[in-house]
Amino acid sequence: MKNQFEMVIHNINIATMATTDDYGVIHDAAICINQGKIERIIKQVSQQPDITLDIETAIDGQGGWITPGLIDCHTHLIYGGNRANEFEMRLQGATYQEIAQSGGGIVATVNATRSSSEDELFKLAAKRLSYLIDEGVTSIEIKSGYGLDLKTEQKMLQVAKHLDQFSPVSVSKTFLGAHTVPPEFKGQDDAYIDLVCETMMPHLHQLGLIDCVDAFCENVGFTTAQTERVFQAAKQLGLPVKLHAEQLSDLGGSALASQYDAWSVDHLEYLSEHDIPLLKNSGTVATLLPGAFYFLNESQLPPIDGLRKHNVPIAIATDSNPGTSPCLSLLLMMNMATTLFKLTPHEALAGVTRHAAKALRIDEKVGMVKEGMQADLVLWDIETPAELSYRMAGNPCRAVIKNGKVILN
Ligand code: NIG
Ligand code: FE
Repeated sequence: MKNQFEMVIHNINIATMATTDDYGVIHDAAICINQGKIERIIKQVSQQPDITLDIETAIDGQGGWITPGLIDCHTHLIYGGNRANEFEMRLQGATYQEIAQSGGGIVATVNATRSSSEDELFKLAAKRLSYLIDEGVTSIEIKSGYGLDLKTEQKMLQVAKHLDQFSPVSVSKTFLGAHTVPPEFKGQDDAYIDLVCETMMPHLHQLGLIDCVDAFCENVGFTTAQTERVFQAAKQLGLPVKLHAEQLSDLGGSALASQYDAWSVDHLEYLSEHDIPLLKNSGTVATLLPGAFYFLNESQLPPIDGLRKHNVPIAIATDSNPGTSPCLSLLLMMNMATTLFKLTPHEALAGVTRHAAKALRIDEKVGMVKEGMQADLVLWDIETPAELSYRMAGNPCRAVIKNGKVILN
């Protein structure tokens, strides 16, 4: 009986990312796709002349490389306005914290997002998303957190849901009500946390708009006690959590998050070595955000060696946001993860594929090129997988396949 495949990609090398300490390379390969899934991977195709494939749609990879579709597991892609003015202030010497304390920062974007319509926000975010897709992103996480009132948080999460429905990529929706204290609650942080836990979270959950709950645990954000209240509320609703932790100071956010089996803890420049084993035990992914590190001129490096030593999976993401990482290139983040954080190109690629998939708990379906998994794939015009980290800008992406369908060519 002959196999019938909806799509075959041949004349390719594959970095499957299905093995832990190398790329899992298969040379001279073909990938056979049916019903959105990778049905068969054929090795050494040219040495098996007896293989005949009935092909409706064949793609000749021309000797290029296939990787899993890239996954951006930490973004704030939906927002109004921009903060180029604050960038200029920082170039004159003002710090991120000073700008936040004087009413700028996240609050400036909250004001711009509140006054934007759902339609405007959708158009802006879809445009930003198109840059990421151009570089091979097939799954993305998007947070709320620039509304900080029920109406606007709902508006943001609805935009995320519509991007999931109407863009070619999958969107994981994160509720970040505890991003900062909105102006109308100034000085009443705990009362705002009440609103997040008792009103916003249950309501948005009921509407099916939350996949995971996040908070900003930081000296310019919320304390660990306030963060724990958010986690408790999530737990009561059966929602998983993740955390912005140890970006500017060490409040012990990661240790707390590990007690709630957080999907990931993100940033981590100030994470103490002592807390690293806790992450391993709770299966929490360490998500590093080199764009924010670079853009804030940070010099404290995340504890990479400790994360490696304890085998904590490391993900890499853009943290795309208007304040600390106005970045729409996951490939650039791979480059920065290697140059600034000294990750290997292999670790950087794992960080935007299998480990990013784990950070979003979609690793059973995507993040590797493996038989039975979803056919989310990127075809690259490169000679070695390390080139994806080596290049600074320039885009070698030749085609993007999502669920077995070509979405970019
Ligand atoms: O991940 N840290 C909090 N959230 C963002 C920054 C948001 C902003 O400044 O608008 C971050 O860096
Ligand atoms: Fe962030």
